[in-house]
Amino acid sequence: ELYNFRLIRPDTKVYGIIGKPVGHSKSPLLFNAAFKSVGLNAVYLHFLVDDVEKFFNTYSSPDFASGCSCTIPHKEAALKCMDEVDHIAKKIGAINNIVRRPDGKLTAFNTDYIGAITAIEDGLRGLEGVKPAPRSPLSGKLFVVLGAGGAGKSLAYGAAQKGARVVVANRTFERAKELADKVGGKYLALSEVENFHPEEAMVLANTTSVGMKPNIDQTPIPKHALKHYCLVFDAIYTPKDTRLLREAKEARAAIVYGTEMLIRQGFEQYKNFTGLTGNNYN
Ligand code: ATR
Repeated sequence: ELYNFRLIRPDTKVYGIIGKPVGHSKSPLLFNAAFKSVGLNAVYLHFLVDDVEKFFNTYSSPDFASGCSCTIPHKEAALKCMDEVDHIAKKIGAINNIVRRPDGKLTAFNTDYIGAITAIEDGLRGLEGVKPAPRSPLSGKLFVVLGAGGAGKSLAYGAAQKGARVVVANRTFERAKELADKVGGKYLALSEVENFHPEEAMVLANTTSVGMKPNIDQTPIPKHALKHYCLVFDAIYTPKDTRLLREAKEARAAIVYGTEMLIRQGFEQYKNFTGLTGNNYN
């Protein structure tokens, strides 16, 4: 029931996700359901791709692939094949959403950071009450990002753009410093985070893979340190209830699940693909 091939016609728009591996991706389920619900003549497929450059060179006709999502390990390599890249995605150095314009040109976005930042902003609004737009509830907040990989970069740039004071903490200290310097933030080694507690409530975002392994209930920072945070976000969504989030709840912090980021980044992609609602994020 994933693809309803009876609905595919010569003028059906083709979307898909490129990655390797890609068969496990739930994106086709999500997008095909969305396209169907609004009656769009479009289909979204899995594309198992080895070489992104070859993929984009081969399928260069504007008639093929109206847009695609991009996942591991192509988020960085695909950037080089684009005609246009959104300025924040360029800074992050990774894209996950590609749209083909009617003239055939490829434009790319990073909706991961929008998904994560809007989920955290909504969490803070729930905690603090709605502030008059356009001020972000992240503005002026101390925002600690654990990890300095692709997801860490997305969160650090996104939070800095919203006016947060970013602190990057990473196992490999040099990577924390490099990212913090780029976003104008401070940096720590991951092991130092438990002793970092200024006189104000902070926001914590985990982007390390600690807590993702099934059957190993790990957490990136000890429970006693969590009392210094008003809100804790974990980018991990399997498992949903990571040890970090369970302990954050016990420490009375508000929590934001990784699934919130997943759904929102998908919705941002949907907006870019269809142009139905426009992209009002800036
Ligand atoms: P992603 O694109 O999902 O961010 P990544 O680029 O591989 O993935 O980054 C993984 C992050 O998890 C890194 O910050 C990594 O720390 P290092 O830079 O020191 O490698 C962090 N990480 C992975 N395993 C870890 C562990 N066991 N303890 C602490 N940090 C870990």
